[in-house]
Amino acid sequence: MLSKALSATVFAAAAQAISFTVSSSNGNATSPYQYGLMFEDINNSGDGGVYAELIQNRAFQGNSEFPSTIDYWNPLGGASIKLQNMSTPLSSALPTSMEVTKGNATGTMGFSNVGFWGFPVVAGTEYKGSFYVYGGLDGNVTVCLTSNDDEQYAEAEVTVKSSNAWTQYNYTLTPSQSAPNSNNTLNFTFASSDLTNSVNFDLLSLFPPTYKNRENGLRIDLMDAMAGLYPSFFRAPGGNNVEGNAAPYWWNWTNTIGPLTDRPGYPGTWGYENTDGLGLIEYLLWSQDLGMEPILAVWDGHYLDGTVLTEAELAPYIQSALDELEFLMGDASTSWGAMREAMGYGPFPINFVEVGNEDSLSAGGPTYRAYRFQAFYDAIKAVYPNMTIVASFFDVAGDAPPFGAAGDFHEYAIPVQMSSQFFYFDNYTENNPILIGEYAIIEYDAFNTTGPKWNAGAPRAFTPFWYGSVAEAIFLLGAERNSQKMIGAAYAPSFQNLNRWQWIPDLIEYDAYPGHTTLSTSWYMINLLSGTRITENLPVTFSSGDYGPAYFVAGRSDVTGAHIAKFAVYNSTGDVPFDFSFAGVGGYAQGNLTYLTAPMNASNPIGGNIVETTTKTVTATKNGTFSFTLPEYSIAVFEVAANQAGQGYGYGNPWNRQGWKGWNSWGQSWGQGQWGPPGGGWNAHGQGWPHKN
Ligand SMILES: *[C@@H]1O[C@H](CO)[C@@H](O)[C@H](O)[C@H]1NC(C)=O
Ligand SMILES: *[C@@H]1O[C@H](CO)[C@@H](O)[C@H](O)[C@H]1NC(C)=O
Ligand SMILES: *[C@@H]1O[C@H](CO)[C@@H](O)[C@H](O)[C@H]1NC(C)=O
Ligand SMILES: *[C@@H]1O[C@H](CO)[C@@H](O)[C@H](O)[C@H]1NC(C)=O
Ligand SMILES: *[C@@H]1O[C@H](CO)[C@@H](O)[C@H](O)[C@H]1NC(C)=O
Ligand SMILES: *[C@@H]1O[C@H](CO)[C@@H](O)[C@H](O)[C@H]1NC(C)=O
Ligand SMILES: *[C@@H]1O[C@H](CO)[C@@H](O)[C@H](O)[C@H]1NC(C)=O
Ligand SMILES: *[C@@H]1O[C@H](CO)[C@@H](O)[C@H](O)[C@H]1NC(C)=O
Ligand SMILES: *[C@@H]1O[C@H](CO)[C@@H](O)[C@H](O)[C@H]1NC(C)=O
Ligand SMILES: *[C@@H]1O[C@H](CO)[C@@H](O)[C@H](O)[C@H]1NC(C)=O
Ligand SMILES: *[C@@H]1O[C@H](CO)[C@@H](O)[C@H](O)[C@H]1NC(C)=O
Ligand SMILES: *[C@@H]1O[C@H](CO)[C@@H](O)[C@H](O)[C@H]1NC(C)=O
Repeated sequence: MLSKALSATVFAAAAQAISFTVSSSNGNATSPYQYGLMFEDINNSGDGGVYAELIQNRAFQGNSEFPSTIDYWNPLGGASIKLQNMSTPLSSALPTSMEVTKGNATGTMGFSNVGFWGFPVVAGTEYKGSFYVYGGLDGNVTVCLTSNDDEQYAEAEVTVKSSNAWTQYNYTLTPSQSAPNSNNTLNFTFASSDLTNSVNFDLLSLFPPTYKNRENGLRIDLMDAMAGLYPSFFRAPGGNNVEGNAAPYWWNWTNTIGPLTDRPGYPGTWGYENTDGLGLIEYLLWSQDLGMEPILAVWDGHYLDGTVLTEAELAPYIQSALDELEFLMGDASTSWGAMREAMGYGPFPINFVEVGNEDSLSAGGPTYRAYRFQAFYDAIKAVYPNMTIVASFFDVAGDAPPFGAAGDFHEYAIPVQMSSQFFYFDNYTENNPILIGEYAIIEYDAFNTTGPKWNAGAPRAFTPFWYGSVAEAIFLLGAERNSQKMIGAAYAPSFQNLNRWQWIPDLIEYDAYPGHTTLSTSWYMINLLSGTRITENLPVTFSSGDYGPAYFVAGRSDVTGAHIAKFAVYNSTGDVPFDFSFAGVGGYAQGNLTYLTAPMNASNPIGGNIVETTTKTVTATKNGTFSFTLPEYSIAVFEVAANQAGQGYGYGNPWNRQGWKGWNSWGQSWGQGQWGPPGGGWNAHGQGWPHKN
């Protein structure tokens, strides 16, 4: 009897629905950005990642932090290979090349590259390559994409002439068969009898087809993965990557533009050399190709080793930031703008500049507050009064930075903390918008032995895991709920190369083998929440229940006209029933419910997915009440169309979003901006990307 009574009580409690109504007035317009990307070259996510180059160490770049090496290259057939700084280098930016001599070779000789831990080989794909040669080789070079056990997938013959000038040769490789893994090398061989003395090679390159077919472009599957996040902004070229480890290396944009022969490379802050093939223009084209508003980070006189510049030393770096903006936006009458035009690009509108990265760390805070931020702010605002300047840190209490600027808030946490942050931004009242420039759950709760956030000494999760992704969803819905105070939120870091990484977990994992590209549980969470945008948050009134352990936001879209509610159910010990209605949506209206579930502790396996998507049609009662239950640890979006609304849709004079256009890179668009001419894109003022014909 007792146990029966008890279970009846439990059942009654569990069946108590969360009931609410959503008003049709007194809403707040949301940020046009909401969800975006943060990128920097960490975990070989640029070179060896998104940047599609397949040859590792293609131009023997180096500097005092990471001296040039011959790593990733191996001699074949007894050849001798070594680095050489010739008196006639390929270019002043690329002073080092690979000298090849006969060594012990008597027959076929040459060298091979191991790629970024292998090469992909996909049947029917055209891989385009090139290399520069100087010296005593007269004959054919065979370029061959081959497996480690000598299965030859594709071969090209390149006829090379002996010459005392650097000459570029091109080749293409089109395998007719796919390789079962990435255990492949790229071999360059020739007859030793064709070699007199020595020959030098430099800037050896191989690209698969790239996203939108851009030359020097980006890896298609990883761009598709990002497009699936429906990103609206792009914080680049990164955080720590901008800062540099130590003087004199910071992310100096002038070294990243122009022909690849003009790019010396950069000692990235994550333990390896960057080629800078992924340079400033490539970042802007990436932004354009995915329909993202750039948030351009500039260096602000703070190195990661804690060195900061004095106020007097800042001037050239402020000038460099202004030059960068002129390079991107100036017309042909400006000197930097003319250089960009000569490279064949129209202007790239910039509306957001972030000054530095995490300047409250590494003892950077006092100088940032005292003079560094203000110096950049004043100089940029003087030329671009409409520019939104983002400070590199933010405190929800509003005491830092009170710079009259947006602030970049970073949140790395454990689930127990982030799942309690739904209300985190509610009390923030400043006018300065918040950018959540980085967030992620990085450890399981069990390891938070030293505090509420995360424990630097505890084991990290290798990849995002489901209940962490649901905790992130609660935090993101908390940001959506306060969207009028926000720019938007970006998970960080975006990418993990499974063969070399410095920071886990990451949103998307991959290696050279295309079948290993993995969309994490957090990717699925963002895909759902970002893919359905609320443009006006509407007030919610409860008639029973409250927030927690189920959290939600509600509103509507002035683009699709749909009424929308988004949910995250956390630690609910069972299904959670909801009964709710939207003012203005009539009886028997039909809406769509989509929800995601997965085993609580599970992560996506390499190349796989454990997140289940369920879709249902939900029909309102005659009074317009929608009812459904959501499982524990689920994330859901419910939409009902405006034409289902009994009392029509019109609402007064909402936020003026004239000109917002194109958040969805899959061709659906919203807003009323004008598209640019063919080949152009959009900008935040709806003017379209000007483009060069
Ligand atoms: C040539 O052979 C000798 C003797 O086997 C060896 O010591 C040397 O390392 C070889 N040189 C090259 C370039 O392979
Ligand atoms: C060298 O390659 C060319 C094609 O590039 C080919 O026509 C020629 O037969 C090759 N010569 C030898 C000796 O293999
Ligand atoms: C090789 O290809 C590049 C890029 O497609 C092109 O710019 C260059 O002119 C080509 N070089 C030769 C020698 O064909
Ligand atoms: C690649 O080759 C290495 C060494 O031959 C081997 O240990 C490894 O299992 C191979 N990887 C795959 C994916 O086949
Ligand atoms: C290609 O180079 C690798 C060494 O990197 C070697 O093991 C393999 O035998 C070579 N294959 C051919 C066809 O030359
Ligand atoms: C950035 O690099 C360029 C080219 O190396 C150099 O001329 C310039 O002085 C550097 N900028 C600053 C502010 O140091
Ligand atoms: C700034 O914005 C205002 C209002 O939209 C506009 O009139 C003005 O031209 C803009 N100024 C610049 C420098 O872009
Ligand atoms: C917001 O302020 C109210 C009233 O002071 C307080 O009860 C609440 O805890 C605050 N919320 C947060 C998330 O700080
Ligand atoms: C984890 O953090 C919470 C606060 O967020 C704290 O109450 C709890 O004691 C911590 N647990 C451990 C095991 O450290
Ligand atoms: C709209 O914004 C105001 C001011 O921040 C806030 O008090 C109110 O709760 C918000 N309403 C909604 C529906 O988001
Ligand atoms: C869920 O709630 C129970 C009971 O309050 C608690 O012991 C458990 O740690 C919670 N789990 C998570 C993931 O927060
Ligand atoms: C609901 O789903 C149906 C079928 O996919 C679709 O036609 C309709 O537009 C959707 N309604 C909303 C509001 O998204």
